[in-house]
Amino acid sequence: MPATVVVGTQWGDEGKGKLTDLLASEMDVVVRYQGGHNAGHRVVVGSEEFTLQLVPSGVLYSHITPVIGNGVVVDPAVLLEEIDALNARGVDTSKVVVSGNAHLVMPYHQELDRVTERYLGKNSLGTTRRGIGPAYADKAARVGLRVQDLSDPKIFRQKLDVVLKEKNALLAKVYNRLPLAADEIAGRYLEEYAPRVVPMVADTVDLLHRSLEAGRHVLLEGAQATFLDVDHGTYPFVTSSNPVAGGACTGSGLGPRQIDRVIGIAKAYVTRVGSGPFPTELDDDIGDLLVERGHEFGTNTGRRRRCGWFDAVMLRQAVRLNSLSEIALTKLDVRDTFERVKVCVAYECDGERFDYVPYHQSTLHRVVPVYEELPGWLTDLSQATSLADLPQQARDYVALLAEEIGVPVRLVGVGPGREQFVSFASV
Ligand code: IMP
Repeated sequence: MPATVVVGTQWGDEGKGKLTDLLASEMDVVVRYQGGHNAGHRVVVGSEEFTLQLVPSGVLYSHITPVIGNGVVVDPAVLLEEIDALNARGVDTSKVVVSGNAHLVMPYHQELDRVTERYLGKNSLGTTRRGIGPAYADKAARVGLRVQDLSDPKIFRQKLDVVLKEKNALLAKVYNRLPLAADEIAGRYLEEYAPRVVPMVADTVDLLHRSLEAGRHVLLEGAQATFLDVDHGTYPFVTSSNPVAGGACTGSGLGPRQIDRVIGIAKAYVTRVGSGPFPTELDDDIGDLLVERGHEFGTNTGRRRRCGWFDAVMLRQAVRLNSLSEIALTKLDVRDTFERVKVCVAYECDGERFDYVPYHQSTLHRVVPVYEELPGWLTDLSQATSLADLPQQARDYVALLAEEIGVPVRLVGVGPGREQFVSFASV
């Protein structure tokens, strides 16, 4: 049985949590493959709202095995807090499994994320300051501590002592901060977290392969998004992992031939938190209206998101980078009160036209979007349940996006609820 990937196609916050949750009813296993608690997946079930940072969204279904894959960086304190909060609300988390190869986010990662952002001043990246970048940097530098080290106190302590020596020198000598105490960190990780985390640890690669062999459905859930990818995003204003669909393989241990469906999730407009280029950004009343109607504040950090018109150039690039088979479009209803709607269909720079995102960042900073303009629908879409309920203008808007992107739009979100999706199979 092949696996399905859900991937964000813009700069994150497209509604992946909600889509994953929607698909979860057909799935047996849901896997997070990268990122950490920089993610904030918001899922609304009836009148209840859940925000998930590390635990895969499928946890809200009792039949699902939620897997935190090897590509994720895990802050055990956050994982346990999230599990406690879910349990307190009656959600069973006993099936959650964590890869022993996933790396740990350590206190010095968080401290370094904070001080380096401050040090960069006006050049700061606008990270979530959760220690994600420093944790991935240590993984690549081969000095990271892994989840499996929690079950071997001797190894844990040896590795911690080596790495902390260097981190403390950096914190004290470069950033003028107090050193961190190895005893305190080891005590917390080995005595407080390990007894609860170690029972969740499994050979997740084996689990996933056996699941597919047994004909079970596996969903790979990306965090962040295509243009925050460390290789393909707007570097350096990116996260430190690979949210693109290829990252689903390295971050889970499945091979490319085991994936046959890649669903790209896109908002009906574009948002971004943090710094970096944003060709269709709206620095005006329309941008403010999108923030207000779309409640565009970070799930995780509460930061106001930057907003702009839908950008088909980015989406075309996302189709290439992820082998997208289809699009799920979210938040179409946010557009309900707009008299006119614009779609960026190309960029122009120095007389040259770009149908795909230019590789050179300096060009991307200077491009001018080429827009196509359509009439708005000025109708409340939130109650729509079928294609027939959508006004012609809304259908035309979705049809234009599908044509410009080059893959079908299969689902359209018209509100935050689990059921507020319209199937758009015919576009
Ligand atoms: P980091 O992942 O905390 O290192 O932050 C790097 C960049 O990715 C910043 O611009 C963040 O705002 C952005 N980012 C990280 N996680 C998310 C997310 O879940 N949604 C949207 N942006 C994110």
